[in-house]
Amino acid sequence: MHLLPLKFGSVEIDFPVLLAPMAGYTDAAMRTLCLEQGAGAVYTELASSEGLSRDGGKTFSEVLDLPWNEHPIAAHIFGADPHRMAEAARMIEQDGRFDWIDLNCGCPVKKVVSRGAGAALLKDLPLMGRIIETVRSAVSLPVSVKTRIGFNRDTADHLEIAHVVEQSGADLIAVHARLAKDFHGGDPDWETLGEMKRALSIPVIGNGGVVSAADAQRMVQVSGVDGVMIGRGAIGNPWIFEEIRQGRQDAGDTVVPPASCRLSKWRDLMAEHLRRLVELNEFKQKASPVRVKRYTPEEAACIQFRTHIPYYVKGMFDKKQLLMKLSSLISVDLIMAEVDILVEKNEVYRAD
Ligand SMILES: Cc1cc2nc3c(=O)[nH]c(=O)nc-3n(C[C@H](O)[C@H](O)[C@H](O)COP(=O)(O)O)c2cc1C
Repeated sequence: MHLLPLKFGSVEIDFPVLLAPMAGYTDAAMRTLCLEQGAGAVYTELASSEGLSRDGGKTFSEVLDLPWNEHPIAAHIFGADPHRMAEAARMIEQDGRFDWIDLNCGCPVKKVVSRGAGAALLKDLPLMGRIIETVRSAVSLPVSVKTRIGFNRDTADHLEIAHVVEQSGADLIAVHARLAKDFHGGDPDWETLGEMKRALSIPVIGNGGVVSAADAQRMVQVSGVDGVMIGRGAIGNPWIFEEIRQGRQDAGDTVVPPASCRLSKWRDLMAEHLRRLVELNEFKQKASPVRVKRYTPEEAACIQFRTHIPYYVKGMFDKKQLLMKLSSLISVDLIMAEVDILVEKNEVYRAD
Protein backbone atom coordinates (compact mmCIF):
# COMPACT_ATOMS: atom_id res chain seq x y z
CA MET A 1 0.00 0.00 0.00
CA HIS A 2 1.28 3.42 -0.86
CA LEU A 3 1.99 5.34 2.32
CA LEU A 4 4.93 7.67 2.71
CA PRO A 5 7.01 7.79 5.89
CA LEU A 6 5.65 10.43 8.24
CA LYS A 7 7.66 13.10 10.01
CA PHE A 8 6.30 15.57 12.54
CA GLY A 9 8.62 17.44 14.89
CA SER A 10 11.23 14.99 16.14
CA VAL A 11 9.09 11.92 15.36
CA GLU A 12 9.57 9.74 12.31
CA ILE A 13 7.19 6.91 11.51
CA ASP A 14 8.50 4.79 8.72
CA PHE A 15 5.21 3.02 7.95
CA PRO A 16 2.28 5.14 9.22
CA VAL A 17 -0.16 2.42 10.22
CA LEU A 18 -0.73 2.98 13.91
CA LEU A 19 -2.29 1.08 16.78
CA ALA A 20 -5.17 3.11 18.30
CA PRO A 21 -5.38 3.72 22.04
CA MET A 22 -7.93 1.33 23.56
CA ALA A 23 -8.48 1.39 27.32
CA GLY A 24 -8.36 -2.12 28.76
CA TYR A 25 -6.57 -3.58 25.72
CA THR A 26 -3.55 -1.62 24.52
CA ASP A 27 -1.25 -2.16 27.48
CA ALA A 28 2.48 -2.71 26.98
CA ALA A 29 1.92 -6.42 26.21
CA MET A 30 -0.36 -5.75 23.23
CA ARG A 31 1.58 -2.69 22.11
CA THR A 32 4.94 -4.46 21.92
CA LEU A 33 3.40 -7.39 20.03
CA CYS A 34 1.83 -5.00 17.50
CA LEU A 35 5.11 -3.09 17.08
CA GLU A 36 6.88 -6.39 16.39
CA GLN A 37 4.16 -7.33 13.88
CA GLY A 38 4.72 -4.10 11.97
CA ALA A 39 2.69 -1.31 13.63
CA GLY A 40 4.31 2.02 12.79
CA ALA A 41 3.62 3.56 16.21
CA VAL A 42 1.51 3.01 19.32
CA TYR A 43 -0.39 5.05 21.90
CA THR A 44 -0.64 4.35 25.62
CA GLU A 45 -3.97 3.76 27.29
CA LEU A 46 -5.79 6.90 28.42
CA ALA A 47 -4.27 8.71 31.41
CA SER A 48 -6.02 11.43 33.40
CA SER A 49 -4.14 14.74 33.54
CA GLU A 50 -5.78 15.39 36.94
CA GLY A 51 -4.43 12.09 38.24
CA LEU A 52 -0.99 12.62 36.70
CA SER A 53 -0.56 16.07 38.19
CA ARG A 54 -2.08 15.37 41.63
CA ASP A 55 -1.61 11.79 42.81
CA GLY A 56 2.13 11.64 43.31
CA GLY A 57 2.96 9.12 40.61
CA LYS A 58 0.10 6.58 41.04
CA THR A 59 -1.55 7.28 37.66
CA PHE A 60 1.85 7.45 36.02
CA SER A 61 2.93 4.05 37.29
CA GLU A 62 -0.47 2.47 36.60
CA VAL A 63 -0.99 3.76 33.06
CA LEU A 64 2.21 5.25 31.68
CA ASP A 65 5.02 3.16 33.10
CA LEU A 66 6.84 1.35 30.30
CA PRO A 67 8.53 -1.90 31.29
CA TRP A 68 9.97 -2.40 27.82
CA ASN A 69 11.47 -0.26 25.15
CA GLU A 70 8.61 0.87 22.87
CA HIS A 71 9.05 3.33 20.02
CA PRO A 72 7.54 5.37 18.57
CA ILE A 73 5.04 5.83 21.39
CA ALA A 74 2.59 8.62 22.28
CA ALA A 75 1.45 9.29 25.84
CA HIS A 76 -2.33 9.68 25.52
CA ILE A 77 -3.92 12.03 28.09
CA PHE A 78 -7.27 13.67 28.78
CA GLY A 79 -8.51 16.62 30.80
CA ALA A 80 -10.45 19.88 30.61
CA ASP A 81 -8.07 22.22 32.43
CA PRO A 82 -5.37 23.63 30.13
CA HIS A 83 -2.89 24.14 32.97
CA ARG A 84 -3.31 20.64 34.40
CA MET A 85 -2.93 19.20 30.88
CA ALA A 86 0.26 21.24 30.46
CA GLU A 87 1.56 20.05 33.85
CA ALA A 88 0.87 16.43 32.89
CA ALA A 89 2.60 16.98 29.53
CA ARG A 90 5.68 18.40 31.28
CA MET A 91 5.87 15.33 33.55
CA ILE A 92 5.70 13.08 30.51
CA GLU A 93 8.40 15.03 28.73
CA GLN A 94 10.64 14.91 31.81
CA ASP A 95 10.17 11.15 32.06
CA GLY A 96 12.05 10.98 28.77
CA ARG A 97 10.60 7.72 27.41
CA PHE A 98 7.81 9.09 25.21
CA ASP A 99 8.14 10.32 21.64
CA TRP A 100 5.14 12.62 21.65
CA ILE A 101 2.07 13.69 23.61
CA ASP A 102 -1.45 13.02 22.39
CA LEU A 103 -4.48 14.96 23.64
CA ASN A 104 -7.77 13.10 23.74
CA CYS A 105 -10.53 15.28 22.26
CA GLY A 106 -12.98 12.59 21.24
CA CYS A 107 -13.68 10.04 23.98
CA PRO A 108 -17.48 9.84 24.47
CA VAL A 109 -17.59 7.77 27.69
CA LYS A 110 -19.51 9.31 30.59
CA LYS A 111 -16.59 9.26 33.03
CA VAL A 112 -14.60 11.52 30.68
CA VAL A 113 -17.34 13.69 29.13
CA SER A 114 -18.94 14.48 32.51
CA ARG A 115 -15.65 16.18 33.46
CA GLY A 116 -15.85 18.41 30.38
CA ALA A 117 -13.03 16.46 28.70
CA GLY A 118 -12.73 14.12 25.69
CA ALA A 119 -15.65 14.50 23.31
CA ALA A 120 -17.16 17.29 25.48
CA LEU A 121 -14.42 19.53 24.01
CA LEU A 122 -16.11 19.17 20.61
CA LYS A 123 -18.91 21.29 22.09
CA ASP A 124 -16.43 23.92 23.33
CA LEU A 125 -13.86 24.51 20.60
CA PRO A 126 -12.38 27.65 22.25
CA LEU A 127 -11.47 25.52 25.31
CA MET A 128 -10.13 22.76 23.07
CA GLY A 129 -7.95 25.35 21.34
CA ARG A 130 -6.66 26.74 24.66
CA ILE A 131 -5.74 23.23 25.85
CA ILE A 132 -3.77 22.52 22.67
CA GLU A 133 -2.04 25.93 22.78
CA THR A 134 -1.13 25.66 26.48
CA VAL A 135 0.27 22.15 26.15
CA ARG A 136 2.08 23.10 22.94
CA SER A 137 3.90 25.96 24.64
CA ALA A 138 4.71 23.88 27.76
CA VAL A 139 6.74 21.15 26.04
CA SER A 140 9.14 20.68 23.17
CA LEU A 141 7.89 17.16 22.32
CA PRO A 142 5.45 17.08 19.39
CA VAL A 143 1.77 17.33 20.34
CA SER A 144 -1.05 15.54 18.53
CA VAL A 145 -4.83 15.46 18.91
CA LYS A 146 -7.10 12.43 18.63
CA THR A 147 -10.61 13.54 17.82
CA ARG A 148 -13.80 12.80 15.88
CA ILE A 149 -15.60 14.31 12.88
CA GLY A 150 -17.99 16.01 15.36
CA PHE A 151 -20.06 15.46 18.48
CA ASN A 152 -23.46 15.36 16.80
CA ARG A 153 -25.03 17.01 13.79
CA ASP A 154 -25.92 20.18 15.76
CA THR A 155 -22.46 20.97 17.14
CA ALA A 156 -19.29 22.27 15.47
CA ASP A 157 -18.63 20.62 12.13
CA HIS A 158 -15.53 18.73 11.04
CA LEU A 159 -13.94 21.67 9.24
CA GLU A 160 -14.27 23.96 12.29
CA ILE A 161 -12.66 21.24 14.41
CA ALA A 162 -9.83 20.80 11.87
CA HIS A 163 -9.23 24.53 11.80
CA VAL A 164 -9.03 24.88 15.62
CA VAL A 165 -6.67 21.91 15.97
CA GLU A 166 -4.26 23.24 13.35
CA GLN A 167 -4.42 26.91 14.38
CA SER A 168 -3.74 25.99 18.02
CA GLY A 169 -0.43 24.42 17.08
CA ALA A 170 -0.99 20.64 16.97
CA ASP A 171 1.65 18.78 14.97
CA LEU A 172 -0.62 15.92 13.89
CA ILE A 173 -4.30 14.98 14.06
CA ALA A 174 -5.85 11.52 14.20
CA VAL A 175 -9.54 11.51 13.31
CA HIS A 176 -12.01 8.77 14.17
CA ALA A 177 -14.47 9.12 11.31
CA ARG A 178 -17.62 8.81 13.41
CA LEU A 179 -19.61 11.31 15.45
CA ALA A 180 -19.04 11.07 19.22
CA LYS A 181 -22.78 10.43 19.73
CA ASP A 182 -22.39 7.21 17.75
CA PHE A 183 -19.61 5.87 20.01
CA HIS A 184 -18.05 3.02 17.98
CA GLY A 185 -21.14 2.06 15.98
CA GLY A 186 -22.35 2.67 12.45
CA ASP A 187 -20.39 3.11 9.26
CA PRO A 188 -17.32 5.37 9.40
CA ASP A 189 -17.56 8.44 7.17
CA TRP A 190 -14.32 8.44 5.18
CA GLU A 191 -15.57 11.16 2.77
CA THR A 192 -15.83 13.63 5.67
CA LEU A 193 -12.40 12.47 6.80
CA GLY A 194 -11.15 13.37 3.31
CA GLU A 195 -12.62 16.88 3.58
CA MET A 196 -10.67 17.37 6.80
CA LYS A 197 -7.50 16.05 5.16
CA ARG A 198 -7.85 18.47 2.25
CA ALA A 199 -8.44 21.42 4.62
CA LEU A 200 -5.31 20.76 6.70
CA SER A 201 -1.60 21.06 6.17
CA ILE A 202 -0.55 19.03 9.26
CA PRO A 203 -0.48 15.23 8.76
CA VAL A 204 -3.85 13.52 9.13
CA ILE A 205 -4.25 9.95 10.38
CA GLY A 206 -7.56 8.31 9.53
CA ASN A 207 -9.30 5.98 11.97
CA GLY A 208 -12.49 3.97 12.06
CA GLY A 209 -13.62 0.76 10.44
CA VAL A 210 -10.32 -0.68 9.19
CA VAL A 211 -10.22 -4.44 9.83
CA SER A 212 -8.19 -5.63 6.83
CA ALA A 213 -5.46 -4.61 4.41
CA ALA A 214 -8.15 -3.98 1.81
CA ASP A 215 -9.98 -1.59 4.17
CA ALA A 216 -6.77 0.33 4.86
CA GLN A 217 -6.22 0.75 1.16
CA ARG A 218 -9.81 1.89 0.59
CA MET A 219 -9.60 4.43 3.43
CA VAL A 220 -6.46 5.96 1.92
CA GLN A 221 -7.98 6.00 -1.57
CA VAL A 222 -11.25 7.61 -0.44
CA SER A 223 -9.84 10.17 1.99
CA GLY A 224 -6.21 10.74 1.00
CA VAL A 225 -5.07 10.52 4.65
CA ASP A 226 -1.35 10.34 5.44
CA GLY A 227 -1.69 7.32 7.70
CA VAL A 228 -4.15 4.81 9.10
CA MET A 229 -4.98 4.02 12.73
CA ILE A 230 -6.39 0.63 13.68
CA GLY A 231 -8.38 -0.12 16.81
CA ARG A 232 -10.61 -3.19 17.10
CA GLY A 233 -9.16 -4.72 13.93
CA ALA A 234 -5.92 -5.33 15.86
CA ILE A 235 -7.44 -7.01 18.92
CA GLY A 236 -6.64 -10.71 18.64
CA ASN A 237 -5.13 -9.91 15.24
CA PRO A 238 -1.71 -8.25 15.56
CA TRP A 239 -0.90 -9.71 12.11
CA ILE A 240 -3.01 -6.99 10.54
CA PHE A 241 -0.04 -4.61 10.52
CA GLU A 242 2.19 -7.04 8.66
CA GLU A 243 -0.59 -7.78 6.18
CA ILE A 244 -1.05 -4.08 5.46
CA ARG A 245 2.71 -3.65 5.08
CA GLN A 246 2.72 -6.46 2.55
CA GLY A 247 -0.37 -5.06 0.82
CA ARG A 248 -2.10 -8.41 1.11
CA GLN A 249 -5.49 -8.31 -0.54
CA ASP A 250 -6.21 -12.01 -0.24
CA ALA A 251 -6.43 -12.15 3.52
CA GLY A 252 -10.20 -11.73 3.58
CA ASP A 253 -12.07 -9.21 5.65
CA THR A 254 -12.94 -11.06 8.78
CA VAL A 255 -10.97 -14.30 8.95
CA VAL A 256 -8.92 -14.32 12.16
CA PRO A 257 -6.41 -15.87 12.30
CA PRO A 258 -5.88 -15.26 8.60
CA ALA A 259 -5.83 -18.36 6.43
CA SER A 260 -2.21 -17.52 5.59
CA CYS A 261 -1.19 -17.81 9.25
CA ARG A 262 0.00 -21.22 10.39
CA LEU A 263 -1.90 -22.38 13.47
CA SER A 264 1.34 -23.06 15.34
CA LYS A 265 2.38 -19.43 14.75
CA TRP A 266 -1.03 -18.23 15.93
CA ARG A 267 -0.77 -20.41 19.06
CA ASP A 268 2.75 -19.16 19.83
CA LEU A 269 1.71 -15.56 19.49
CA MET A 270 -1.17 -16.07 21.92
CA ALA A 271 1.23 -17.74 24.36
CA GLU A 272 3.66 -14.86 23.99
CA HIS A 273 0.89 -12.29 24.59
CA LEU A 274 -0.08 -14.10 27.78
CA ARG A 275 3.55 -14.41 28.91
CA ARG A 276 4.04 -10.67 28.48
CA LEU A 277 0.87 -9.94 30.46
CA VAL A 278 2.25 -12.01 33.35
CA GLU A 279 5.55 -10.13 33.17
CA LEU A 280 3.72 -6.80 32.98
CA ASN A 281 1.73 -7.63 36.12
CA GLU A 282 4.91 -8.70 37.92
CA PHE A 283 6.47 -5.40 36.96
CA LYS A 284 3.44 -3.41 38.16
CA GLN A 285 3.17 -5.29 41.44
CA LYS A 286 6.87 -4.73 42.14
CA ALA A 287 6.46 -1.03 41.35
CA SER A 288 3.79 -0.62 44.07
CA PRO A 289 4.53 -3.37 46.64
CA VAL A 290 2.70 -1.70 49.53
CA ARG A 291 -0.79 -2.18 48.13
CA VAL A 292 -2.53 -5.45 48.99
CA LYS A 293 -2.85 -7.53 45.83
CA ARG A 294 -6.01 -9.50 45.26
CA TYR A 295 -4.49 -11.60 42.51
CA THR A 296 -1.05 -12.97 41.76
CA PRO A 297 0.55 -11.56 38.57
CA GLU A 298 -0.36 -14.78 36.75
CA GLU A 299 -4.00 -14.68 37.86
CA ALA A 300 -4.31 -10.98 37.00
CA ALA A 301 -2.79 -11.66 33.56
CA CYS A 302 -5.20 -14.56 32.89
CA ILE A 303 -8.18 -12.41 33.86
CA GLN A 304 -7.00 -9.61 31.54
CA PHE A 305 -6.32 -12.10 28.74
CA ARG A 306 -9.92 -13.36 28.89
CA THR A 307 -11.03 -10.17 27.13
CA HIS A 308 -8.60 -10.90 24.25
CA ILE A 309 -9.39 -14.60 23.81
CA PRO A 310 -12.76 -14.20 22.02
CA TYR A 311 -11.00 -12.02 19.41
CA TYR A 312 -8.11 -14.46 18.95
CA VAL A 313 -10.46 -17.38 18.39
CA LYS A 314 -12.99 -15.45 16.29
CA GLY A 315 -12.45 -17.36 13.05
CA MET A 316 -11.77 -20.76 14.62
CA PHE A 317 -13.82 -23.88 14.15
CA ASP A 318 -15.54 -25.18 17.34
CA LYS A 319 -14.35 -22.39 19.65
CA LYS A 320 -17.48 -22.65 21.83
CA GLN A 321 -15.97 -25.05 24.35
CA LEU A 322 -13.07 -22.71 25.08
CA LEU A 323 -15.34 -19.66 25.34
CA MET A 324 -17.67 -21.46 27.77
CA LYS A 325 -14.74 -22.24 30.07
CA LEU A 326 -13.29 -18.71 30.01
CA SER A 327 -14.27 -17.73 33.55
CA SER A 328 -12.52 -20.78 35.05
CA LEU A 329 -9.22 -20.27 33.22
CA ILE A 330 -7.09 -18.78 35.97
CA SER A 331 -3.62 -20.10 35.08
CA VAL A 332 -1.41 -19.93 32.00
CA ASP A 333 -1.31 -23.73 31.82
CA LEU A 334 -5.11 -24.01 31.88
CA ILE A 335 -5.51 -21.41 29.14
CA MET A 336 -2.83 -22.91 26.91
CA ALA A 337 -4.17 -26.45 27.41
CA GLU A 338 -7.55 -25.27 26.05
CA VAL A 339 -5.85 -23.38 23.23
CA ASP A 340 -3.91 -26.52 22.28
CA ILE A 341 -7.11 -28.56 22.13
CA LEU A 342 -8.56 -25.91 19.82
CA VAL A 343 -5.46 -25.89 17.62
CA GLU A 344 -5.62 -29.66 17.27
CA LYS A 345 -9.28 -29.56 16.22
CA ASN A 346 -8.60 -26.79 13.74
CA GLU A 347 -5.59 -28.56 12.24
CA VAL A 348 -7.86 -31.47 11.42
CA TYR A 349 -10.58 -29.07 10.18
CA ARG A 350 -8.18 -27.12 7.95
CA ALA A 351 -6.68 -30.32 6.56
CA ASP A 352 -10.13 -31.62 5.53
C1 LIG B 1 -12.39 -0.95 24.15
C2 LIG B 1 -12.05 0.36 23.52
C3 LIG B 1 -11.38 1.32 24.25
C4 LIG B 1 -11.07 2.56 23.67
N1 LIG B 1 -10.38 3.49 24.40
C5 LIG B 1 -10.02 4.66 23.81
C6 LIG B 1 -9.24 5.62 24.52
O1 LIG B 1 -8.88 5.44 25.67
N2 LIG B 1 -8.91 6.78 23.87
C7 LIG B 1 -9.32 7.03 22.59
O2 LIG B 1 -8.99 8.09 22.02
N3 LIG B 1 -10.06 6.14 21.90
C8 LIG B 1 -10.39 4.98 22.47
N4 LIG B 1 -11.11 4.05 21.77
C9 LIG B 1 -11.46 4.34 20.37
C10 LIG B 1 -10.38 3.77 19.42
O3 LIG B 1 -9.14 4.38 19.64
C11 LIG B 1 -10.81 4.00 17.96
O4 LIG B 1 -10.91 5.39 17.75
C12 LIG B 1 -12.15 3.35 17.65
O5 LIG B 1 -12.21 2.03 18.16
C13 LIG B 1 -12.42 3.34 16.15
O6 LIG B 1 -11.44 2.60 15.47
P1 LIG B 1 -11.74 1.10 14.94
O7 LIG B 1 -13.00 1.18 14.13
O8 LIG B 1 -10.50 0.76 14.17
O9 LIG B 1 -11.93 0.26 16.17
C14 LIG B 1 -11.45 2.84 22.33
C15 LIG B 1 -12.13 1.85 21.61
C16 LIG B 1 -12.43 0.63 22.17
C17 LIG B 1 -13.15 -0.40 21.34
